[in-house]
Amino acid sequence: MGGYFLKILFALLVCFLHTEISILGLNSTSEISRVKCIESERQALLNFKRGLVNDSGMLSTWRDDENNRDCCKWKGLQCNNETGHVYMLDLHGHYPQRLSGLINISSLIDLQNIEYLNLSNNDFEGSYIPKFMGSFTNLKYLDLSWSRFGGRIPYELGNLSKLEYLDLKWNSLDGAIPSQLGKLTSLQHLDLSLNSLSGEIPSEVGVLTSLQHLDLSGNSLRGEIPSEVGKLTSLRHLEI
Ligand SMILES: *[C@@H]1O[C@H](CO)[C@@H](O)[C@H](O)[C@H]1NC(C)=O
Ligand SMILES: *[C@@H]1O[C@H](CO)[C@@H](O)[C@H](O)[C@H]1NC(C)=O
Ligand SMILES: *[C@@H]1O[C@H](CO)[C@@H](O)[C@H](O)[C@H]1NC(C)=O
Ligand SMILES: *[C@@H]1O[C@H](CO)[C@@H](O)[C@H](O)[C@H]1NC(C)=O
Ligand SMILES: *[C@@H]1O[C@H](CO)[C@@H](O)[C@H](O)[C@H]1NC(C)=O
Ligand SMILES: *[C@@H]1O[C@H](CO)[C@@H](O)[C@H](O)[C@H]1NC(C)=O
Repeated sequence: MGGYFLKILFALLVCFLHTEISILGLNSTSEISRVKCIESERQALLNFKRGLVNDSGMLSTWRDDENNRDCCKWKGLQCNNETGHVYMLDLHGHYPQRLSGLINISSLIDLQNIEYLNLSNNDFEGSYIPKFMGSFTNLKYLDLSWSRFGGRIPYELGNLSKLEYLDLKWNSLDGAIPSQLGKLTSLQHLDLSLNSLSGEIPSEVGVLTSLQHLDLSGNSLRGEIPSEVGKLTSLRHLEI
């Protein structure tokens, strides 16, 4: 009799545990499959935010408290589903909301897997585009237009071999167009218009045979249009 009672008790216990475990199991598997952001990338993003004078509230979700640890949920960025690496950072301003202050894009150097960076329509008060920019070798889209960048276009941008889209229009960039941009053979869109660029148009643009959009207007370029431009058979928009 006692044995029978124990058996029932045992069965009930197993049943109970099983349900309990499957509930926990369900929750823990969904917990595992949801990737969280990578600590070094989170620190880099927080450093970038600290460097700004005013973010107009655009980065209000970028917080360092317990409830906001997962930077993959912060506004303006997206992480890869499987690895958790940030692959997209879209911080374009929308007047009157914009980021302002001198910035050092190099502080984002830990975002090694970034493919898309959009910082357009902000006010970076003459910040330079650092040589370091050439280390973001996974970049496909780089949009730094309308943001008051100054100084030269670093020739290291020629290292961004996967770049398809480069927009630097309407800044205060000066100096020559670096011939190393001719190494960007995947480039489809190149816009350097409305800056203070000088010197000649490098003949290397003729190598960029994937170009569909080329705009160099609104600068102080001189000399002849290189005949190599005639090799750009994919062009749909040309302004010089
Ligand atoms: C998972 O845990 C949450 C609380 O964190 C709870 O509200 C939810 O019901 C649980 N899900 C399952 C399937 O048990
Ligand atoms: C920050 O920018 C917003 C919008 O551009 C502006 O309303 C606010 O006054 C600025 N704050 C400071 C402290 O300058
Ligand atoms: C992430 O996962 C969702 C579905 O879970 C999918 O629709 C989306 O394409 C994935 N994104 C990437 C970048 O893999
Ligand atoms: C960057 O953001 C602007 C809005 O400010 C948008 O017009 C532009 O298309 C974006 N650039 C890219 C490469 O998506
Ligand atoms: C920008 O940051 C990089 C890396 O953190 C550093 O080496 C460099 O000196 C900084 N540049 C400026 C102008 O602060
Ligand atoms: C760019 O590539 C050159 C070699 O082509 C290399 O010497 C240089 O260190 C690279 N610069 C950066 C910033 O990655």
